[in-house]
Amino acid sequence: MTDLQAIVDEIHAALSPRRGEGRVADYIPQLAHVDPQKFGIAVVTTDGAAFLAGDAEEAFSIQSISKVFTLTLALGKHGEGIWKRVGREPSGSAFNSIVQLEYEGGIPRNPFINAGAIAITDLVLAGHTPKEAIGEVVRFLRYLADEEDIIVDQAVARSEQATGFRNVALANFLRSFGKLDHAAELVLGVYFHQCALAMSCRQLARAGLFLADSGTNPLTGHRVVSHLRARRINALMLTCGHYDGSGDFAYRVGLPGKSGVGGGILAVAPGKASIAVWSPGLNENGNSLLGALALEMLTARTGWSVF
Ligand code: DON
Repeated sequence: MTDLQAIVDEIHAALSPRRGEGRVADYIPQLAHVDPQKFGIAVVTTDGAAFLAGDAEEAFSIQSISKVFTLTLALGKHGEGIWKRVGREPSGSAFNSIVQLEYEGGIPRNPFINAGAIAITDLVLAGHTPKEAIGEVVRFLRYLADEEDIIVDQAVARSEQATGFRNVALANFLRSFGKLDHAAELVLGVYFHQCALAMSCRQLARAGLFLADSGTNPLTGHRVVSHLRARRINALMLTCGHYDGSGDFAYRVGLPGKSGVGGGILAVAPGKASIAVWSPGLNENGNSLLGALALEMLTARTGWSVF
């Protein structure tokens, strides 16, 4: 039998000397204060067992990883109708790029680039005030992780609200094409708060477990989405979850994954486990440098690649 704890410990020890490599995101000023030495790994298998190493219990800003969960909520609310607003193709552009949006008539390439995620948040906001929508996202994460101790880091939310000019432009651009139902500032209020959710690797891995177990959360036995929907969300994570670094991540790691500029990555090994890693130093695509290396080592040692 594979000794997962030994593997996780070995990966953590092997990569620890490289902590601090990469560049911590500083375009959201509050994120620039995070200690670049942090490094956590959590593997939660579909039987609920957790294998942790390093700073796996420390909460960090999940940022774009939240887009997986808002996509799930939007699909639950609106079904396949969401694909009138966003595409399902890799963008080949940076996460915050605006260029394609004009050529493609205000339909963002996929739900994970910022423009697409803002369009998805607009759909989550339907029938809610921004406060209610934020509450719905937070409650959804608590329900998935089966833990109450998940909150929005208000300092991070305020920091991005004060400096997120590019996202303001993207939201207004979408609105100019008639592709947002709500005012840009309302949608962005929700978006900045979902990105500012603070969770540990362990909590995040637990929250992603439904994607590893055909749509059912093995911690609670609750069906979250259908098997088909889980498969499709995983497909989007694999093809678009790391923006213009998605091909490289698939090549090296071979798992559906979603990154965030806080340095976290959520990866899904279908039928096996949900994995979260955190190291704040980012590569040139804005994805965690050490995090991707840790996942590469994990799939090499466990044979968990989907290929
Ligand atoms: O919208 C932003 O720029 C951030 N709140 C999230 C970006 C992000 O995490 C990109 N992923 N690597």
